[in-house]
Amino acid sequence: MILSLLFLSLNLSSLFRCSIARGGTLHRSDRSGYLDGSIYGHLGRRLYSENNQMSEEEYIEKLEKLAEGYMSNSDLEKAMKEFNSRCSNISRIYSIGKSVLGVPLWAVEISDLPGAKEAEPAFKFIGNVHGDEPLGRELLLLLANWLCDNYMKDPLATLIVDGVHLHILPSMNPDGFSLRRRGNANNIDLNRDFPDQFFRVNDDMDLRQPETKAIMKWLEDVDFTASASLHGGALVANYPWDGTEDTKKYYYGCPDDKTFRFLASVYSRSHYNMSLSKEFPGGITNGAYWYPIYGGMQDWNYIHCGCFELTLEISDNKWPNASEIPTLWGYNRMSMLSLVAGLVKTGLHGRIFSSDNGRPLPASVAIRGINYTIAASKTLADYHRLLAPGKYEVIASMPGYRSKSACVVLGEGAVKVDFVLDPETSYNGTQPLLDSGCDFDSKTGFQVLDFLPASQLEISMLLILILAFFCFLMKRRVRSNHLNYKQSLGARRVVV
Ligand SMILES: *[C@@H]1O[C@H](CO)[C@@H](O)[C@H](O)[C@H]1NC(C)=O
Ligand SMILES: *[C@@H]1O[C@H](CO)[C@@H](O)[C@H](O)[C@H]1NC(C)=O
Ligand SMILES: *[C@@H]1O[C@H](CO)[C@@H](O)[C@H](O)[C@H]1NC(C)=O
Ligand SMILES: *[C@@H]1O[C@H](CO)[C@@H](O)[C@H](O)[C@H]1NC(C)=O
Ligand SMILES: *[C@@H]1O[C@H](CO)[C@@H](O)[C@H](O)[C@H]1NC(C)=O
Ligand SMILES: [Zn+2]
Repeated sequence: MILSLLFLSLNLSSLFRCSIARGGTLHRSDRSGYLDGSIYGHLGRRLYSENNQMSEEEYIEKLEKLAEGYMSNSDLEKAMKEFNSRCSNISRIYSIGKSVLGVPLWAVEISDLPGAKEAEPAFKFIGNVHGDEPLGRELLLLLANWLCDNYMKDPLATLIVDGVHLHILPSMNPDGFSLRRRGNANNIDLNRDFPDQFFRVNDDMDLRQPETKAIMKWLEDVDFTASASLHGGALVANYPWDGTEDTKKYYYGCPDDKTFRFLASVYSRSHYNMSLSKEFPGGITNGAYWYPIYGGMQDWNYIHCGCFELTLEISDNKWPNASEIPTLWGYNRMSMLSLVAGLVKTGLHGRIFSSDNGRPLPASVAIRGINYTIAASKTLADYHRLLAPGKYEVIASMPGYRSKSACVVLGEGAVKVDFVLDPETSYNGTQPLLDSGCDFDSKTGFQVLDFLPASQLEISMLLILILAFFCFLMKRRVRSNHLNYKQSLGARRVVV
């Protein structure tokens, strides 16, 4: 065990040289936080030795100057409660847990029905994962207030409030913030504290930090479709995978690489100048290509929660002068809104029912050719599958039911496909999924691939024709309504 850890740390030491810890310049506390919080950080090793010129007093004085004009933790709590009472009919405030030092991790949910279960996607924003990257917590409060001020006035604000459940956790690491350092009160880097797909070092739940546990518990309670965490120290939208199996640095895409590049580009292209980056083409980067990390929150979200998470680096300077916050909000506002609105404006959505009693079925939804499955929600059986524009075959399956599949062409807008699955008992045949029969030359771009016995084939052919025609009509209507945000809420809906 000890030997293998030693080996691992030797391997990893090469990473530290080329990496800047998903953030820019390392302050003194960054470095200690980074190393302590690495995948073997739980063992309590202190690899960092003090070798800086500044005295402790000078250093603290410098940090306090940097924090001038930023909300303290109690300011933040007050601002969140004020937001919630000012916008009480579209928000609720709740705590997902406590930090090491007992500070509540406050979150707000923004929706026309906050706290209710609806057949809608949920998005989460997490700020201040690293204590010394405070810009996100400021921007998230500005975002919440902007949505409240513009609900029913601005189409994007209205779309988000009506169509998404947006959860905002401005600070995941209030202790790190008040200590002005990267790690939490135990000096653990929280973005290295999640279970890792390759290294089991982080698997011991008892050693996990309370902030990390709170996030993991949160994801058991809410079905998030997508999310983003906000960092500082660079200007780029980072997407999975964050780590490679051999710890080397190279492009390592996850099964949904195309979709992630699409999502990351939604952010960078709507940003003031992220996409103009010279360092990162298009303002986006694969995490492992930039530098591999282990135990990160982003990969864990995708692997274990069906949640597509981006790591957004929103400012080269970790502590921009507080007077610049309004400008930086202006730079990021459209990006933040577009990313959340993308949950209803793009991708594949629908619900899944049983044909015998109409009950919602928490079935799984897969896309042929992509090794990744999402689950429809347990209560309402709605699913929300983010996808880059393209042609796909979507397959709904549920134990005890016959799988069904449909072919869809995703363009600019969202597509809704509901499935009605037949219980296996009503049809006793071992019918494996057929090879893809999608004919993407068909004019409608939508087909039903149903695995019906021959006797029912004529009926299904007729159904397909009717659906296809319906689909064609809807598509025309959708096109002509392109600028109307209602389009995405009432996107063409097909039942399979
Ligand atoms: C919230 O309150 C405002 C003002 O009273 C009202 O216009 C709006 O319709 C309400 N929204 C919801 C979702 O109830
Ligand atoms: C974006 O704009 C900011 C502020 O003007 C500037 O400091 C930064 O270098 C710019 N970055 C890119 C990639 O253009
Ligand atoms: C921040 O900017 C203000 C004016 O824009 C200036 O007075 C102040 O000294 C600056 N603070 C720091 C820490 O540089
Ligand atoms: C699909 O992904 C799983 C892990 O989620 C992996 O175990 C499996 O080997 C993959 N299958 C293919 C065909 O790549
Ligand atoms: C289908 O029929 C076979 C025999 O005819 C039986 O052994 C099997 O259990 C049946 N399967 C289902 C799902 O009813
Ligand atoms: Zn960070």
